[in-house]
Amino acid sequence: MVSASPIILALDRPTEAEVWDLIDRLEPSQCRLKVGKELFTACGPSLVRRLVSRGYDVFLDLKYHDIPHTVAQACRQAADLGVWMVDVHASGGRAMLDAARRALDEGPHSPLLIAITLLTSLCAEDLQDIGWQGEPQDVVLRLAHLAADCDLDGVVCSAQEVALLRARLPATFCLVTPGIRLPTDQSDDQQRIVTPQAAMAAGSSYLVVGRPITRSKDPLVALQHFNSLCRQ
Ligand code: C5P
Repeated sequence: MVSASPIILALDRPTEAEVWDLIDRLEPSQCRLKVGKELFTACGPSLVRRLVSRGYDVFLDLKYHDIPHTVAQACRQAADLGVWMVDVHASGGRAMLDAARRALDEGPHSPLLIAITLLTSLCAEDLQDIGWQGEPQDVVLRLAHLAADCDLDGVVCSAQEVALLRARLPATFCLVTPGIRLPTDQSDDQQRIVTPQAAMAAGSSYLVVGRPITRSKDPLVALQHFNSLCRQ
C-alpha cells in the first residue's frame, strides 16, 4: 500500500518484540517505515521481509559506503528484499554511485536510490575535524549535485537545506529529511533540527521521524499529531 503520509517512522528499536508492539498498532496508510543499522543488525533481513509483506513501504537505511562492487551487490540484495528505498553515502564518490544505480536498474525491482549528503548530527566544527571544506550547506549542495549527476532519485539532508536544494535541483528530486522535532521535543544528538510544518513548507518530500514518536507515551497519538502538522 502506498501511504499518503510523508512520515517515515524510524524503527530504531533493538528487539523484534518492541518493533511488533509498535507496528501492531499502526496501519501502512499512516506512515512508511525505516529500518536502520541497529534493528537490521539485531533482526536481519527476515524482519524486513515481514514488514514488506504487511504492506509497508520500507526504507532500508544502511547508508552503504564501500568500494563500488560491494555497494552494487549490497543494493541488489536490498532490492531483492522488496524494499521501497535504499541509501548510500554520496561521499563514496561517483564510481560508487554509478555502480549502485546500474545494479538497481538491472534488477527486476528497483527501489528508490537516495544518497546521504551530510549527517544531520554534524555541524561546521565537525567538518573542520574531518577536513571537509565549506559550510555544511556548501557540502550538502556539492554532494546533492553529484547524486543528481549520477541519476540517483534524491538525497537525505537536513530540512534546513531543503529550500536551497529545491531551488537548484530538478523538481522530481526526492528530499528526505531527518532531524525533525517539535519545539517541545529534546533535540537528542541532532544538530540541524526543524519542525514538521517548516520542513513541509520548505519542500521536503519525506520526513524521517524517530524518537519523538517512538519514545512518546503513546506513539500512535504522536504519529497522528505529526501527520496532522504535515497537512497544515
Ligand atoms: O530519533 P530521530 O528522529 O533523531 O531519528 C532520525 C533517524 O534518521 C535515525 O534513524 C538516523 O539514523 C536517521 N538519519 C539521520 N540523519 C541523516 C540520515 C539518517 O538522523 N543524515
